[in-house]
Parts: sequence; structure tokens; C-alpha cells
Amino acid sequence: MKIFICKTAEQVADTANKIFREVVKTKPDALLGLATGSTPLGLYQKMAEDCRKGITTYKDIRTVNLDEYVGLDGTHEQSYRYFMNTNLFQKIDVQMSNTRVLSGVAPDLQKECEDYSAYLAGNPPDIQLLGIGGNGHIAFNEPGTPFDSRTHIVTLKENTIADNARFFSDISKVPRKALTMGIADIMSAKKIVLLATGKNKAQAVFDMCEKPISPDCPASALRNHPNVIVVIDSDAASKIL
Ligand code: GLP
Repeated sequence: MKIFICKTAEQVADTANKIFREVVKTKPDALLGLATGSTPLGLYQKMAEDCRKGITTYKDIRTVNLDEYVGLDGTHEQSYRYFMNTNLFQKIDVQMSNTRVLSGVAPDLQKECEDYSAYLAGNPPDIQLLGIGGNGHIAFNEPGTPFDSRTHIVTLKENTIADNARFFSDISKVPRKALTMGIADIMSAKKIVLLATGKNKAQAVFDMCEKPISPDCPASALRNHPNVIVVIDSDAASKIL
């Protein structure tokens, strides 16, 4: 695991953008694994800027996303499909038909998960972007999730619901369930980039880097992957320095 500590969140976004730019330059039809949350927003702005300036074209890339809330369709403002459309896909030249996000309203959620895992088994992402939850979760793999998990339905932990409540008008509106890539799906990516900014991520970053590798901290699984880059700001790094 390589760790880059940047002074600011802006530098985190810039560093991540350079890594993604290189992947797309080397392989114009790369499969990019993408993430939601507030952390990747700076990166997405930089990707959009690169596209606008003609530095990078994403016209042949394919994308997969980590997770989606159960019960929210893509028109719901808090769905992850809506997030991706408005924060990235509509701002770059990707073909919408090449973007894949789990559907939280699929008639058979179990089948939706199985299809997604089957796709990933045949198409390992060239690069997978991750944020980290305050309790060390990656995607929606909460503490206790087995490392061999594939895409599955999860019941969110109370602290994850509370963390994500800031995006909803009321905590009662936060879905209690989600679909998520499993840890084994994430680990199948050829390269993984995890971003974290802010003091509220310092403990999770410490647990990921320093605690024993165990499902108690899902992100600690990344230490078993041969090609992981962690890009964090000094606040998020404050407990490992
Ligand atoms: C959610 C997402 C995760 C994300 C986490 C942190 O739980 N499922 O993929 O990493 O939030 O989000 P933020 O970047 O807003 O702190």
C-alpha cells in the first residue's frame, strides 16, 4: 500500500486526477470503478475540467459504481445513479450506455447483485476509486463483512445512516438497505485508489493502516492487494503521522 499525504483536499483531488488521467491515456476503453460520497467530488470536477480543456477524452471508457441505496430510483436526488449523472457523467464525454450503477429498484435485488458480480468477474476494473466510511467501511461493506463477499444486499449500520443523513432532509429518509460490491469484487480491480480527507476520517485511516487486517475494519483488506494507492490530506493522516 503506497500512501501519499497531501497538504490539502485540493491536492488530494489533483493527485487522484493524475492517476486516473494516466489510466485513461494508457487504455482509452478502461473500465473505471467509481465511488460516491463527498470525498470524490474534487476529483470529478478535475476530470470534467480535463475533458472541457481537451486534455482527456472519456468517450470510450466504461464505468461501474460501488453501490446504490435500495428503494431509490435513478431520478431520486439522493440515489447514487443521480449523483453520478449530475456530478460526473453529464460533465464528461462518456457514453451513458457505458455507465453501470446497481439498481436499487430492480424487481429481483438478489439477481441484480448476482449479475453485477458475474459482470465484474469477467471485467475486473482497471482502476477502482474508494472513499472510506468513519467506521472503516468501503463501498457499503460494513465492519464484519467477510473478505470473500461478492455483490450483496446490506443493512446499513446506525453510524453509517447517521453519517449519510446530512444528504437527506431527515434521518428517517435515509434508506436502511443498500446494494454493494463485495470486498472480493473490489479486490479484483487491477489498481485501487482510496481517498480520504478531514479529521473525521483520521481514525478510520489509522485502523486501515495500523490495526490487524480483519473484517472489523473492512478497509484493512486493502493491505492484501498488490496495487493500492492511498491519497489523503494531513487531517485524515493525523493519527498515522
Ligand atoms: C458512503 C458510501 C461510501 C463512501 C462513504 C464516505 O457510505 N457508500 O462509498 O466512501 O459514504 O462518504 P464521504 O466521502 O461523503 O465521507
